Amino acid sequence: MYNETIRSQKELILCEDGTNTLYSKEFDEPYHSTKDGALHESLEKHVKPSLAIKNKHSTLTILDICFGLGYNTFATLYYIQKNNLHTKIHILSPEFDEGLVRSLDTFDFPPEFDSIKPIIQAVAQNLYYEDEQFKIEILLGDARKSIPKITEKIDIVYQDAFSPAHNPLLWTKEHFSDIRDICKEDAILTTYSSAAAIRLGLYENDFLIFVHRAELMRYSTVASIKMLEGFEYIDMELKKVRNPTARSMKDREYL
Ligand SMILES: C[S@@+](CC[C@H](N)C(=O)[O-])C[C@H]1O[C@@H](n2cnc3c(N)ncnc32)[C@H](O)[C@@H]1O
Repeated sequence: MYNETIRSQKELILCEDGTNTLYSKEFDEPYHSTKDGALHESLEKHVKPSLAIKNKHSTLTILDICFGLGYNTFATLYYIQKNNLHTKIHILSPEFDEGLVRSLDTFDFPPEFDSIKPIIQAVAQNLYYEDEQFKIEILLGDARKSIPKITEKIDIVYQDAFSPAHNPLLWTKEHFSDIRDICKEDAILTTYSSAAAIRLGLYENDFLIFVHRAELMRYSTVASIKMLEGFEYIDMELKKVRNPTARSMKDREYL
């Protein structure tokens, strides 16, 4: 009954990679790029580049903005288990749609998630999971309020909100400033957005900007507080000269 009510506000969509996502009527947008695919997008835009850059770390704290169907969180666990990595992972994930998270125990996830089904069920039931290697905490409520209260220092940020046009307050310079405040000095951020306004908002908060070219995918962005090897660096000062009207998004324009 609970699940049916939640699902009635959302439509199930099959992505081109064969995995399921939802369409949000509230935000008028799918939860994932149906062309890139829910699982494929999570792995290629967020999980693989992040874990490759942080492959020397034995523990990682990840801020997953926002939890949604949990693909980014669950794909991280799937990838770690599949590659027999021993990295300890702590994921903090804001989400204000409690009903959606609680409905995930019956969501039709891909077979890749079969081995983590007990973890998915625990998260759906308790909004929390912990074992010796993995800890997942859903931060219920508005991400703009919960992020400044985080006391852990973050290694990786998955910036995966609905688009800037439909959810602008999760893309502003001030939002990125809140994120920067809780980041370690070598933190990275991954996002599907390659828009100049978004890259500027990150750049204005100490992040250097890089292009990420994944397989069978439109290119996306990796931002990093430190210089990265192996990624195409974007000179944002040059971008500003070439595109003098480009501006980061500001809270005051949307409040
Ligand atoms: C694009 S979906 C996230 C997809 C998710 N990363 C995944 O892999 O399934 C965006 C999510 O942000 C949530 N959301 C939107 N605005 C929010 C806010 N201000 N605070 C917390 N959650 C928010 C929505 O409820 C939705 O679940």
